[in-house]
Amino acid sequence: MSLIEQVKQGRLPRHIAIIMDGNGRWAQMQGQERTFGHSQGVTPVREVIEGSAELGISYLTLYAFSTENWSRPRKEIDALMSLLVSTLNTELSTMVENNIRLRLIGDLERFSPDIYRDLMEGVHRTAGNSGLTVQIALSYSGRWDIMQAVRHIAGQVRDGALSPAELTEDLFARHLATAGVPDPELLIRTSGEVRISNFLLWQCAYTELYFTPTLWPDFRRDDLYRAILDYQHRERRFGKTSAQVQQNF
Ligand code: FPP
Repeated sequence: MSLIEQVKQGRLPRHIAIIMDGNGRWAQMQGQERTFGHSQGVTPVREVIEGSAELGISYLTLYAFSTENWSRPRKEIDALMSLLVSTLNTELSTMVENNIRLRLIGDLERFSPDIYRDLMEGVHRTAGNSGLTVQIALSYSGRWDIMQAVRHIAGQVRDGALSPAELTEDLFARHLATAGVPDPELLIRTSGEVRISNFLLWQCAYTELYFTPTLWPDFRRDDLYRAILDYQHRERRFGKTSAQVQQNF
């Protein structure tokens, strides 16, 4: 049986998040500039979007640029920004045709007004779509997300609109950049690094983690299917006992 047929037989995650890592090392291994690795990272982005849409996954979150990435050399940041903008622009019509909704999460105010406008164009043009939601994390970090939520909430408490006793996990989550999106059931990280690296810290409380040595430019649809198959063979207990889970407690 093919990998996709096997995947279709099991329960699918609603939300998959991916830390796309290893572009720089991949390029250096070929004696190329790091930015070449980023440009080769576009093919797997397309593959995981198409693969997720075909399976009927509802949300796919891709970590494209972290808060910490702002400290990379200016030349690499600029190359990455123009690659992101040009890729999102060229893929826009495909996203519209395939009913894909684009969302951006992160501290977008740090981008120049031109880049911000170009990035938001895709968000506006796909806002009415109801198929797969692709969330691109840009200038994002989990601690930034938690801090901006705390700032909103502290302001509401100061203004008397909210009392500390009313603050619940659900209400907190509604102030995160991912508001309205369920937590990911599966987080994939490529390139052999075994860390969360300040990604969706609050949202990954119960997420199954999958690490693969494959470098991001080499990642293909079958690698996505393998990660989902691995997830399907795990038991998610949320702190309960195995017996409770099996009896649907
Ligand atoms: C990590 O590799 C990857 C990035 C910082 C950028 C990811 C961006 C893309 C794949 C471009 C296309 C994306 C979209 C959403 C259109 P690294 O540079 O940290 O690699 P290294 O760990 O080997 O140095």
